[in-house]
Amino acid sequence: MSLVIVQQIWACRLSGYAALLLLLGSQSLGAGRRLGWVSPKIHLRWRRRLGIYSALMASLHLFIAWRTFLSGWLVDALRETPWTQIGLVAWCILLLLWLTSYPRLVRLLRVHSWSGLHKLAYPATALALLHALLAPWSEPRIHLGLLILWTGLLGLRMLPWRPILKR
Ligand code: HEM
Repeated sequence: MSLVIVQQIWACRLSGYAALLLLLGSQSLGAGRRLGWVSPKIHLRWRRRLGIYSALMASLHLFIAWRTFLSGWLVDALRETPWTQIGLVAWCILLLLWLTSYPRLVRLLRVHSWSGLHKLAYPATALALLHALLAPWSEPRIHLGLLILWTGLLGLRMLPWRPILKR
């Protein structure tokens, strides 16, 4: 395999991992808040920011995939391969969450259940993990590790609230 192709695959993979880790990072703040490690203010601010960065990174990832790995084949890939279709659905959800993270736009679009809508971050994470697992150069061990981490984070969210720890 030529060096350019290897570089293209890595650009694609690394941008995908960055988008996924930012998404997991935004959800880890909820667990941190439950444990009393993260203040409500930091939780609210950074959950939103990391969610936006994840959507931006996923868009860059899609652009890199289109210009490199899937160059001249993106539409056919989206029509024929489940792993790209799953990625597309995850990306559309992230875009929706991004657009509805601006209060003025939410008012303009008359979205009433903002917090209900933002629970879509969970199916988006599950789909992104599945997409990564089914991708042709996937590293199943990494994705299994990320799945365990994510399940742990969701489990921690079930804990009762704890007060913020004083330093
Ligand atoms: C239409 C949407 C998408 C397309 C066309 C797409 C395309 C690709 C391509 C071509 C690869 C490289 C294949 C490989 O590594 O085997 C890849 C890998 C990856 N993608 Fe996507 N992707 C999309 C959406 C997403 C989203 C929304 C996320 C995360 C939020 C994501 C996360 C990943 C990850 C983590 C990998 C690395 C998998 C691995 O090799 O271990 N992708 N994607």
